[in-house]
Amino acid sequence: MQILALIRSRFEHALRGWVEQPAEYAQRVSVARDTQFGDYQANIAMPLAKALGMKPQDIAKKLVERLEIQDLCQTPEIAGPGFINLKLRDDFIAAKIAELAADERLGVEPSEPRTYVIDYSAPNVAKPMHVGHIRSTVIGAALAKILGFLGHRVITDNHLGDWGTQFGMVIYGYKHFANEAAFADAPVTELSRLYRLVQQIIGYQAAMPKLAKASEQVAMATTQAESLKSQVRPDPKVAKQLKSALKELGNYQENLKELEDKVAVVDNDPRLAQIAIEHANMESRAQSETAKLHRGDPANIALWERFLPVCIAEIESVYKRLNVHFDYQLGESFYHPMLGDLVDDLIASQAAVESDGAICLFLEGYDAPMIVRKRDGAFLYATTDLATIKYRMQHFAPHAILYVVDHRQSEHFGKLFAAARAIGFDQVELHHVSFGTVLGRDGKPFKTRSGTVVGLDYLLDEAIDRAYHAVCNPDRLQKAGLAMNQEEQHQVAEVVGLGAIKYADLAHNRTSDYEFDIDKMVQLEGNTSAYIQYSYARICNIIRNSGVTVDSTNINRFSLHFAKPAERDLALQLLQFEDAIRQSVEEYYPSVLAGYLYSLAKQFSSFFDQCPVIKAESEELRNSRLALCYATGRTLEMGLSLLGISVVSRM
Ligand code: ARG
Repeated sequence: MQILALIRSRFEHALRGWVEQPAEYAQRVSVARDTQFGDYQANIAMPLAKALGMKPQDIAKKLVERLEIQDLCQTPEIAGPGFINLKLRDDFIAAKIAELAADERLGVEPSEPRTYVIDYSAPNVAKPMHVGHIRSTVIGAALAKILGFLGHRVITDNHLGDWGTQFGMVIYGYKHFANEAAFADAPVTELSRLYRLVQQIIGYQAAMPKLAKASEQVAMATTQAESLKSQVRPDPKVAKQLKSALKELGNYQENLKELEDKVAVVDNDPRLAQIAIEHANMESRAQSETAKLHRGDPANIALWERFLPVCIAEIESVYKRLNVHFDYQLGESFYHPMLGDLVDDLIASQAAVESDGAICLFLEGYDAPMIVRKRDGAFLYATTDLATIKYRMQHFAPHAILYVVDHRQSEHFGKLFAAARAIGFDQVELHHVSFGTVLGRDGKPFKTRSGTVVGLDYLLDEAIDRAYHAVCNPDRLQKAGLAMNQEEQHQVAEVVGLGAIKYADLAHNRTSDYEFDIDKMVQLEGNTSAYIQYSYARICNIIRNSGVTVDSTNINRFSLHFAKPAERDLALQLLQFEDAIRQSVEEYYPSVLAGYLYSLAKQFSSFFDQCPVIKAESEELRNSRLALCYATGRTLEMGLSLLGISVVSRM
């Protein structure tokens, strides 16, 4: 049910044979910004005035005469300099709601099918998965669901980082510091410990030589700031200089602090300090373990084969909790055997050339080339990504490939897409669905108190726990008159907690950073999934208490009419569901759908405040309102499920 598209098509029809590009002008019909003038609005006459050499108001008049829209709208009104305001007819809205409520797909029509490959989640295994990977997972999974629901062929592929430098680190760690018993007992925990240990030593060794310079910078910046501060007369120019000097000082101090912290971790632990002495240059030692792995060294391959399955099992447990599935999980290692040939082909076709011993693609619009093979023969992240595109084109022939990856990789994808086009993959749409950083309350990338990047399992547990306290606390349950046994309480907490994490990632405009605040996320008030889930449960409750059976088979026996504006407003919102779904995948912003569901829930709440359902004045009105409740409940449920979020019928 695309009401907007329907109205636009009527305008297009009216403009045809009169103006050029009628479809383009018809796009200028939109949902009315100010609902007191109507439901939809057309701003067409003004932009046409010049081309037609007529007064906008005359154009609007003529357009209204030509417009055949009586079956949908009341008589259009012309306002101001030539806006056309449209108000849908109540009987049209009522009929459409009845149709929608009786339809399994809530009136959403399938699109012309296209094939999409969606590349999302893709954590680097063997090191802890972090909160940024949930964001990719949640956004990617939602896009996959929405596109699939619209009838597209969707192939989801988890491009695991299962071959990168972290394996060299873990292998080095394992060879020198492994605790076999601990590994046998909890392999992933032991691997994380080893990863962290190697990372700490590498961090220490890299920080040490930088310390002196960093302290010097702080000292100099302090002197500079002090001398500016000591200037006697207040002078705006000096004040400005002082401000920037203080800012610079702050940056230097922060840098120094970071280095000092890295050094302190090791200095304060005699065992680590000893390791740092005995294993000089650990970074290059770890790198050579990676290189050996890539060359096929049997010992390293054997270790990798031992580590990989346990790492995968670990992340799969997170996917299971999030209820996320992939059609394919072709990680970086899968493409490794193809890279040599790919680079040879690029050289043979002269797409790539040698420069300083490295094999490079020089791309229009980029100063630095894209390196596909380093001097030492090593391949890069980008090489794998090129091979991945080739593979996907051969096996899935997609119309589009979406990469749901952190915005910090936008340069990489910009180059990758340019390279792909340069070597002939110029038909497929390649799209970096980038997203911002998840921040802590301090405005910096989200970390736990101990300073490590947060483990996902822990986060999910935390959200469920907070949800339990926010929603299932005895006080609230008693006030709400909900008698729930422990099992139901846990189930509710799980649905609300997981929903909260997902919704927070989805509701924020994906390109902006956002503050991760678990307590806020599980609140029953505000733009949260809990609020929407609660609206759904309220609706179930109303229908239950009415004693009337309402379902998709009998819903069309409930005729709708609007006694109060709040009923009509709610119905109108319901009709915009499909528009919201489609808009959310136009530029791949699931936040559009989330925003729609939030306004729908709010609209429902004002409807319910003003319109008694069970105690309505007449049976007819009660039934009409029940039908609205039913349609709203189903829309909320389906909308949330497209975002990967479940509901409960009591909360
Ligand atoms: N493993 C990468 C990371 O964690 C993300 C991979 C994204 N997908 C891709 N085809 N490059 O940063």
